[in-house]
Amino acid sequence: MLNPYLPGDQQEIRICVDESRMARFPDEGLVHPLYSTFALAQDAEWVCRRFVVLMKEEHEEGVGSRVSVVHRSPCPLGAEVRLVATLVEVIDNRVLCSWQAFASDNSPDKSPDKPTGKSTERLIAEGEQEQHILNRERFGKLIDRLAEGIIERQPHPGIADKSNSEWQAHPSAIVDAGAKIGSGTRIWHFCHVMSGAVIGERCVLGQNVFVASGVHLGNGSKVQNNVSLYEGVVCEEEVFIGPSAVFTNVVNPRAAVIRRDEFKTTHIERGASLGANCTIICGVRIGAYAFVGAGAVVTADVLPFALVMGVPARQSGWMSAAGHRLHFDTEAQALCPTGARYRLRDGRVEVGG
Ligand SMILES: CC(C)(COP(=O)(O)OP(=O)(O)OC[C@H]1O[C@@H](n2cnc3c(N)ncnc32)[C@H](O)[C@@H]1OP(=O)(O)O)[C@@H](O)C(=O)NCCC(=O)NCCS
Repeated sequence: MLNPYLPGDQQEIRICVDESRMARFPDEGLVHPLYSTFALAQDAEWVCRRFVVLMKEEHEEGVGSRVSVVHRSPCPLGAEVRLVATLVEVIDNRVLCSWQAFASDNSPDKSPDKPTGKSTERLIAEGEQEQHILNRERFGKLIDRLAEGIIERQPHPGIADKSNSEWQAHPSAIVDAGAKIGSGTRIWHFCHVMSGAVIGERCVLGQNVFVASGVHLGNGSKVQNNVSLYEGVVCEEEVFIGPSAVFTNVVNPRAAVIRRDEFKTTHIERGASLGANCTIICGVRIGAYAFVGAGAVVTADVLPFALVMGVPARQSGWMSAAGHRLHFDTEAQALCPTGARYRLRDGRVEVGG
């Protein structure tokens, strides 16, 4: 990879916002005066790619891996837009750019009280774009084979016919062919469920949840936003996984060492809750109705009904199946506010008085 650029260097393109760049919805037509997020993301990729085109060598390929779009002001049809990419950093093969889009004042929404003859611009959107420069020998062969039709793209029928489906997924979610999903399950924006994943009935996957092949998620489980369930994770019924909780599947990862055969199983038993932003080191078993506090790092097995918190997680009490603290009296009896009775025997919680 060559790098003739320095951070702060800029590239620029100009485009005219025609109908093809506006958001169009089936029932409503062109619905808002924003130049659409989808088209902006494409145009941002285009201008940022200008850096990569000169950085990559012949045997390399530039691949966009992430683009963010923040709208700042409306942009009507007919406006002329200037997109400017600024190089932020290049680390190894990763190229990070920020970008901004400006609408020029000769757009149709030019306000009558603006002075004429002066060209002013309005920021309409901005964001970041990340690209990687990859070795074409490994990556490019795949592209060539796809182009030649030697490898067929796999269809993902999961969301194709939601009207006949017993489960629902937002159109932005990708459910690969071969994933099993139970009836009544709802899958929200930007989720990805891989082939071979098994999701039970009445589950909810919040925004941006990833479910790998081989993962089992029991009936009635809820997974909050931004959670990745990696291969090796098994959740029984009615498990709650808080937002941004983190699972792992390799204890000692190294980028250069393949450890696929060393994936460990993480088992979450029925009714357990994992608090927001907790981290579960792989290979542990979290007992039925156990409760992991927000932000805890779980490094060892957790007993059924135990409440653990902190880094590393330590047991600080007991929780009932309904999620209330259990305070055991001198007779080792505890009463949950719901009326359910619990008993502590040999360091373990039993249901019933
Ligand atoms: C663990 C939890 C259930 C404890 O709730 P609680 O029984 O009401 O506990 P309290 O707020 O009375 O706190 C008791 C003590 O534990 C500490 N504590 C509470 N939660 C903690 C946590 N997650 N990590 C570390 N310490 C915690 C408190 O600071 C307090 O310490 P102190 O006695 O020294 O003052 C709760 O704090 C929690 O983490 N809930 C998870 C919330 C969540 O992630 N929801 C996801 C869906 S939005």
